[in-house]
Amino acid sequence: MSYKLDWTTLRRDAPTSLTQQIVDRIVTGVDDGSLEPGEKLPTTRELAESAGVNHLTAARAYRRLAEMGYVTATVGRGTFVRAHPPGAAGDDPDADEWQEVVLPARQVSYAEQVLEDSIRLATEPGVLSLAAGFPSPARYPVGDLARIAQEVFETEGNTALGYIPAEGLPELREALASRGRRAGFADSADEIIVVSGARPGIDLVARAILEPGDVCVVEAPTFVGLLTSARATGAQVIGVPYGEDGLDVDALERVLARHEVKLVALQTSCQNPTGQDMSPQRRKRLAQLAVERGFFVLEDGVYSNLRYEGSEQPRLRSLAPNHVIYVDSLSKTVGGGLRLGWIAARGPVRRRLAMLKMDSDIHTSTLVQMIAARYLRGDAHERQLAGSIEFYRERRDALLTSLERHLEGEYRVLRPRGGHHTWVTLRRPVDERALYAQAFRHGVSFTPGGAMTPERPSQTAMRLSFALLDPDEMDEALRRLARAIRAVRREDRSAAALPIS
Ligand SMILES: Cc1ncc(COP(=O)(O)O)c(C=O)c1O
Repeated sequence: MSYKLDWTTLRRDAPTSLTQQIVDRIVTGVDDGSLEPGEKLPTTRELAESAGVNHLTAARAYRRLAEMGYVTATVGRGTFVRAHPPGAAGDDPDADEWQEVVLPARQVSYAEQVLEDSIRLATEPGVLSLAAGFPSPARYPVGDLARIAQEVFETEGNTALGYIPAEGLPELREALASRGRRAGFADSADEIIVVSGARPGIDLVARAILEPGDVCVVEAPTFVGLLTSARATGAQVIGVPYGEDGLDVDALERVLARHEVKLVALQTSCQNPTGQDMSPQRRKRLAQLAVERGFFVLEDGVYSNLRYEGSEQPRLRSLAPNHVIYVDSLSKTVGGGLRLGWIAARGPVRRRLAMLKMDSDIHTSTLVQMIAARYLRGDAHERQLAGSIEFYRERRDALLTSLERHLEGEYRVLRPRGGHHTWVTLRRPVDERALYAQAFRHGVSFTPGGAMTPERPSQTAMRLSFALLDPDEMDEALRRLARAIRAVRREDRSAAALPIS
């Protein structure tokens, strides 16, 4: 490292600048092999100190070396001598360590790890998943969609495989707007942008609105994917508590008093993970605040149509359509593999969203949009929703019964009014990560509360999803979870009993 670089001969009175002299030394070191590919160079601060130059000169030298292809710099990791390209003389074509040097630094967050686990473990033999936010395959309307897909090919022919504008297929946008007028999320087809699922919709909204350093408020707890999308923009993500009446608007006002908030992202109905609704009073106040203070609201409605009790209210967007951007999809009611979602927005942000959509994937599959348009125009979706509500209500009740059977007296739960999830808090906390690991060992998975809250939670909470498992499997999953909780408590007790060495 720095000991290989001798700076004693740097000359302030030389015709070449100090920056160039530093660059030349490092280039010589790389060319003569004394600095090896992948080797870490001193930080700019260390370089400035040892070479007796100011910090800017050191930074400038590294920038120039990077432009010349001699070094790569990654924020948070440092500056490295660039590895030889793969396949260069003597290189092992199977080696892949060089990628670490070339790739930008990126750590997998806890939330991302949990999301990845939940998708992977949903189909892992031997693990019962209370983690996956997947609907039950038993509810996929395969027959209806197969018939419609056949009709699309027969009547649309090759246009089903052609490119279309980024905003989506006009007939699908119209079918969605007509549902939007009834539910309160859109007035016209012009407001609709078709996207490949709600998650990409959330991602586009976050990217359109947030810049590094901006403030985004989310519910605590919230959907893991929202946290990762908002954080990926470099914004500061602040959690506001969520309870039986939805987002705590008084707490939001305290955040608004201290921060310039650009975006508040929430689910107003059948929230993931609590299954609760935002009360009409809180909705009204939030809409007023958005208008008065000039911030955007992202309303995610993916579970709104899966309601088991309570009455449906018009979507928040109907109260402030210039401020609220609505995101939804067919993933939870039809099937996530369809990858069909939509955004409803107005004004300059709508155009920005359409441009971002075009820049990222041109448009969502034409074929899928044609199928979805026909499906939504008929009565198949209404039948699908009615059947799903019965089906999932039974599973929700089965989960609540099994919870009580296996964890009586040990938990608190918010009874979900809709959606696919329950938010369960343990009365006596345990180490969440230890429980997460112990649960896998016992053959059950859940979503840990810490992955669903922007700040570290003070309680042990978990999301238990009830859509995927049938009632018998769910009961077995709860039995395994209860055992895992007891095992973690036993480990805690024996650790506490160990003598301090
Ligand atoms: C609240 C919420 N929003 C969005 C999504 C993502 O939905 P999609 O599959 O349509 O991308 C999910 C999926 O779990 C979710 O729970």
